[in-house]
Amino acid sequence: MQALVTRPGHAHTTRIEDLPAVEAREGEVLVRTLEVGVCGTDREISEGLFGIPPEDGPLLVLGHEALAVVERNGYGFTRGELVTATVRRSCGHCIACAEECPDSCLTGDYSERGITRLHGYARELVAEDPGQLVAIPKPLGRLGVLAEPTSICERALRHARTIGGRQPWQLERALVIGAGPIGLLMTYLLRLADVEVWTASLEPENELVEKSGARYVSTHAEELSELGKFDLVVEAAGNAQLMARTLGLLRRSGVACLLGIDPRHQTVELDGRVLGVDTILENRVLFGSVNAHRQDWLAAVADLDRARPSRAVRSFAVRSGATCRGRTC
Ligand code: BGC
Ligand code: ZN
Repeated sequence: MQALVTRPGHAHTTRIEDLPAVEAREGEVLVRTLEVGVCGTDREISEGLFGIPPEDGPLLVLGHEALAVVERNGYGFTRGELVTATVRRSCGHCIACAEECPDSCLTGDYSERGITRLHGYARELVAEDPGQLVAIPKPLGRLGVLAEPTSICERALRHARTIGGRQPWQLERALVIGAGPIGLLMTYLLRLADVEVWTASLEPENELVEKSGARYVSTHAEELSELGKFDLVVEAAGNAQLMARTLGLLRRSGVACLLGIDPRHQTVELDGRVLGVDTILENRVLFGSVNAHRQDWLAAVADLDRARPSRAVRSFAVRSGATCRGRTC
């Protein structure tokens, strides 16, 4: 059985390898992978900077953004049904994981499919715990592969709303920095919620942003500080200097959320008065968010289905680099 494997900790070892066939054991559902999305985390793993292999050897099968089809009936699933699967699995010994919130794991001993201690979906067949599967409505088809990055955005938004909502607050105006898959999906989710959205990135223009009804800002042409202030700023570009600047772009009671990763060793600058005066006197918050709870996966699937009629969303899966392997999609 072919699989896309890498040797975590060793740069540029990613390759296709023939692995023994996968068998579903008692309590598992056998699924066939149709699509796998590729993100910055995969790139980091492939560059030897991230990832831990499972106990069975030095290799890790990649793939944490997946769309699969159920091969055999069982455990509430029917052959031919489209599914995706959660990424992070319980550490088994913290209160967050005991409450089924591995996205908030307190030990860091969790496993993540295709990333940490657990093989991923970039292989022909996968045996999965039915409790980790998430059904994808048939009409979503290959767009279902976007459920994972969308779940990341849903969690971030849910947390932003909880944090903002700790005091009277209205999410009227948002800035999304970065127009990669996460920035674009965040833009679409905020537009579905009727928020006035500005999305900023390096390219001169961005059709997908404009089709969502958001306004696109090219950072070469415009200064972010000239766009006015925002109730929510989401950093999805993976630039620590920009992350520090988000605090200064907030309105009173504004919330800044960090989603992009910037692993570079560096010192960033932040205006002392933004931190030492404005953040306090204006009740601003800066927070980070990773992974997703099952409720965020369900919200992701429902919102992708709501956004589906938009032609822009349909062309999205193609441009965001998902690869199709045939069958249902
Ligand atoms: C994934 C998350 C995961 C994180 C850290 C991201 O790319 O989307 O599910 O928790 O990497 O490993
Ligand atoms: Zn835990």
